[in-house]
Amino acid sequence: MTIHIGAKPEDIAETILMPGDPYRAKWAAETFLKDAKCINEVRGMLGFTGTWNGNRVTIQGSGMGMPSLSIYANELITEYNAQTLIRIGSCGAMQENVKVRDVIIAMTATTLSTPSSGIFKELNFAPCADYSLLEAAVKASRSRDVATHVGGIYSSDVFYDERPDLTDQMMRHGILGVEMEAAELYNLAARHKRRALAILTVSDHLITHESLPSDQREKTFGDMVEIALEAAFA
Ligand code: HPA
Repeated sequence: MTIHIGAKPEDIAETILMPGDPYRAKWAAETFLKDAKCINEVRGMLGFTGTWNGNRVTIQGSGMGMPSLSIYANELITEYNAQTLIRIGSCGAMQENVKVRDVIIAMTATTLSTPSSGIFKELNFAPCADYSLLEAAVKASRSRDVATHVGGIYSSDVFYDERPDLTDQMMRHGILGVEMEAAELYNLAARHKRRALAILTVSDHLITHESLPSDQREKTFGDMVEIALEAAFA
């Protein structure tokens, strides 16, 4: 047990899927895993372990934002020996050709700062995905009927952003979407030599202001979960 995860060491798999929302962890575990068992309830940040095609998988909520994700990813990596961590989350689209419900596979994650900024100091470290996972996820996405984009995303510290100038610069430089967790997941994976990837479903659009109602988010999330599972065990 750690401060934030109440599971026994053997209750957690080496492969972790991390949605921000703990209820989405529950839904994904009940929908896609066999024999899913709840392994964490501390602070309501639900986690489940089960099997997919005979492979053990843990689906653990990360909470919103990099400080929260950093707590869970750190404990999973250093205390539970997690080897592969795939964020499955939502994002806001930042390009016209990226539509609500599309999937984004994040090659890199640009930031203003992360919980690791104190280590990097003046260095602008470039957080990037594990290539083997990225390649496998792209391949998995090609065999299904979902528009998928691969490229850079923006990991922000704020949902209610007050810097439209920065948003403009990122759109100008081809950033596909904005979310709040991936960059720190990539930093931690690099530091501890683990594999990480972020796969995102577009839930809202910064240009058209279209958004996916919360009751519809679940269904469109299914493609993303399956892509993540296929990539993890490719
Ligand atoms: N901004 C930041 N994080 C997000 C968004 C957004 O528009 N949509 C989903 N996660």
